[in-house]
Amino acid sequence: MCGIVGYIGKQKTVDILLDGLKELEYRGYDSAGIALLNCEKISVYKALGKLSNLEEKIQHSNLCASYDLGIGHTRWATHGKPTELNAHPHLGEYSYVVHNGIIENYKELKEELLSHGHKFVSQTDTEVIVHLFEYYQNQFNDCTQAFQSTIKRLEGAYSILLISKACPHSIYFFKHGSPLIVARGNNENEVLFASSDAPLIGLCSEVVYLEDGFGGVASKEGIVFFNEALVSWSSLPTSKQFAQKEGFRFFMEKEIYEQSNVVSDTMLGRIFDNSIAFDELNASLMEGIREIKICACGTSYHAGLTASYLFERLAKVKCSVEIASEFRYKEPLLSNDTLFIVISQSGETADTLEALKMAKKNGLKSIVVCNVDNSSMTRVADYAILTRAGIEKGVASTKAFSTQVVVLWMLALYFAKYKKSIDTQTLQNEIHALREVPSALLVTNSVHERTKRLSKRYLHGHGFFFIGRDVFFPLALEGALKLKEISYLHAEGYPAGEMKHGPIALADPELFTIALMPQNLLYDKIKSNVEELSARDSTICAISPLSFELADDFIPTNLKNHYMLEFFEMLVVLQLFSMEISVRLGNDVDMPRNLAKSVTVE
Ligand code: M6R
Repeated sequence: MCGIVGYIGKQKTVDILLDGLKELEYRGYDSAGIALLNCEKISVYKALGKLSNLEEKIQHSNLCASYDLGIGHTRWATHGKPTELNAHPHLGEYSYVVHNGIIENYKELKEELLSHGHKFVSQTDTEVIVHLFEYYQNQFNDCTQAFQSTIKRLEGAYSILLISKACPHSIYFFKHGSPLIVARGNNENEVLFASSDAPLIGLCSEVVYLEDGFGGVASKEGIVFFNEALVSWSSLPTSKQFAQKEGFRFFMEKEIYEQSNVVSDTMLGRIFDNSIAFDELNASLMEGIREIKICACGTSYHAGLTASYLFERLAKVKCSVEIASEFRYKEPLLSNDTLFIVISQSGETADTLEALKMAKKNGLKSIVVCNVDNSSMTRVADYAILTRAGIEKGVASTKAFSTQVVVLWMLALYFAKYKKSIDTQTLQNEIHALREVPSALLVTNSVHERTKRLSKRYLHGHGFFFIGRDVFFPLALEGALKLKEISYLHAEGYPAGEMKHGPIALADPELFTIALMPQNLLYDKIKSNVEELSARDSTICAISPLSFELADDFIPTNLKNHYMLEFFEMLVVLQLFSMEISVRLGNDVDMPRNLAKSVTVE
């Protein structure tokens, strides 16, 4: 959700900023902008839409040969429409700011500043920051004092970079609730900033992942933190492992194909013949635990729902799952015999992070299942299990989901063994099945071609129902979410047995039912549910290893001996199906409209 970068140094500032923004563009692409400072002169470039528009604009401008420093931003709109005026950096009279997050009290602050004669041009919450800074700067004539006074007045979640002609050699920075990293560059007197580590890899080796309430001022003389004693530096990989498309049409496609390999990394060193091991966990973790509560958003929530079946079935622990944004405000009753598990690809999703903090405050033990090391959630949770999926760039999450489900399945077995709720033979069978997940996730030519060909029949109609039972219900939810977010077609995931309690009234040939019909789990039950829909003329696309004569279309999967292997094979089919529909509709697969990769505002 918005990406910010900053640079002080001798390299070509504009290139460093644009390269950095390229790495962050998947976080928001409503507009982009940079501000460059050279000898008290600030040059600003902004463009609506993708970063390429900004690059084009800059190419056609008279850029100075060098700049001492600069800040940049790629936006996912929260307050104010995506327009050039609302694009960052935002200007006061003589200062500029980029901001990621939301200033909740911006209306009050704006009123106050208007009464002091400040003029606003955008509809954003961000603009108050720069005006507030200048208000204090005009009073104190001291940038540090002005910046600190500004920060004291802001409510909400934010990370900020600010530059000003009043202190032309410095970048002021602060983090509260949204991520921000400060780095010492590989070259002398070089400082870099970014809202995630991708833009920094290869340019520096030492970074500070700022904690909430941390900030300071950087110049070519170095970095001064407001709370120096509490800052800790850590290292960053030096090799550039930037995700590239590697010949695939889209990051999403590459990430679907990658799943088979990355789940092997997820399992590496964690599965043995008769046991599951997590070095990150402590064996005593489950002592006194009677219940598990899972909290997450979007695709990660679907992974959580899937896990709830596995935790109860295998580990025999009561498990409930909550959508993080609902959980936060329902005044939940929490007791410390509950283990709190949050799931997040980014580790930065605001609602999930706040839910985790709430659970911790109430004394619950917590685990995060996360893809991004050093993200906020990995730092807050008691235990962090990394999914090891590698950088996921497609806004539509794919490999994050499969690796989350693998981790959670392993975790269910880990708890099952600890609680002795599973016999040795069953445990061995489950572990054997886990080892087969990489092959279940392999994308074959025939499946990809089939989804490509079928996709052209599913472009119109009044909606999609993805239906399944048991763990195939969360999988149905995930299939529907994938389709919605990249094709913009209406789709719902539904428990197959629930259709007759209302939704079946919608059935007609223009209602597309995507039926998940595994052989190893409740096949006869789901078959009856699909027959009911077929009898009411819904167009049926069945995904199953068993042929089904009533299906209008059929995507055959391989016979497998474990329902979870069928789960993963069907997952790939659903991901490819939604991607191919999106391609046919001419949509931007990797950057669907209105979305952002990581939702760091509530
Ligand atoms: O980073 P997180 O896993 O916490 O993100 C949660 C959701 O925002 C995310 O899964 C979203 O639903 C994806 N766009 C789904 O493809």
